[in-house]
Amino acid sequence: MTQNARPILNGQVNFPVCMAPMVGLTHVAFRRLVREYLPAGAVTIWPTEMLNSRRIPSENLNTTPETLRSPDETHLVPQILGNEETPIALSVQRLEEEWGAQGIDINMGCPVKKALSHNYGVALMGDSDYAAEVVRMTVRNTTLPVSVKLRAGHQNDLVYLIEFIKKLESAGASWVTLHPRTTEQKRRGTADWSQIRSVREVVKIPIIGNGDVQVADDAFKLMDVTGCDMAMVGRALTARPWLLWQVGERLGFDAPSGREGHRAPATAAEEGAEYGRSLKRLLGLTEEVFGRAPFSMDLGLRKFRFHVRTSSPWLQFGHDLYARTTKAKTFSEVGHALDEFFGREQLMTGRTELRQ
Ligand SMILES: Cc1cc2nc3c(=O)[nH]c(=O)nc-3n(C[C@H](O)[C@H](O)[C@H](O)COP(=O)(O)O)c2cc1C
Repeated sequence: MTQNARPILNGQVNFPVCMAPMVGLTHVAFRRLVREYLPAGAVTIWPTEMLNSRRIPSENLNTTPETLRSPDETHLVPQILGNEETPIALSVQRLEEEWGAQGIDINMGCPVKKALSHNYGVALMGDSDYAAEVVRMTVRNTTLPVSVKLRAGHQNDLVYLIEFIKKLESAGASWVTLHPRTTEQKRRGTADWSQIRSVREVVKIPIIGNGDVQVADDAFKLMDVTGCDMAMVGRALTARPWLLWQVGERLGFDAPSGREGHRAPATAAEEGAEYGRSLKRLLGLTEEVFGRAPFSMDLGLRKFRFHVRTSSPWLQFGHDLYARTTKAKTFSEVGHALDEFFGREQLMTGRTELRQ
């Protein structure tokens, strides 16, 4: 970790970058891909997609696309969505005892209409006492550390945000992840990192900073500028999962297992080529996990295409790649399309305008 970082997951985490939870993207196949780029000996936390606490109690865990996990995955901190004690209690107990969670994250940032109408997700940011109560009801039903992921809120009011986070801290939150965009901004515009700094200065629990990290440099900058204890990366990690390797190299970690003696991709062309290899690997993993019974080729291909849609803006001619993967109708056709496309040199850009 960086100097002065506060301990996360009872001090087990020794690496300052982690993956952001993303619906439709942070499933087991993608987590496996990214873990293959984690430097040897590095320990970080891993999210799931957002899991609805009203569904988890009756679901067949580890068989749905959202709850599938691989037996060798460790340090999983699934994210739940909820606001009532009974479903939250049943969910966290099952996630801890049956599924192997090592922490529980509560979503207080989801801005979609459905979450607002059910009073969970970012709706909880409108009532700090009730939000603190949701933390309390989670903490009393699990022995695991409980964290909260939130955004700048509806009103972009820093005084309110600080009071809000202090209440979560008093209610027993072990750490908080802040994505400093307002509800209205959704994921557009710029994340206001100064809010992360202001919060980090006045609370005692660790703060994970999130928003707009696109390259390894940005992760270090985010931690330097805000003093946050870890950087969480979402969209950019879909494009450059080797960002973990690049960060590890700078911190003196060994190369990821199986990549000993190699350096992390560094130039635009090296990154372009690695993007091709990583997509090929993800295609294989996606087919293996989602592309056949009990799921279907259609589901697997939809997941893969969504990944390409999110990650391709960092690639010159990314729109062409996306069009080709949409046109291909089977896993093998997508594989051929990737081979053909990456048969020519492709260049990745460091930073790009984030639109979705
Ligand atoms: C497709 C997509 C789905 C997302 N789903 C979730 C979610 O389920 N829970 C959550 O807390 N944040 C979710 N987010 C927000 C990310 O976790 C993150 O806060 C946001 O993308 C900003 O980080 P970034 O700039 O590194 O992408 C989602 C983001 C994307 C792009």
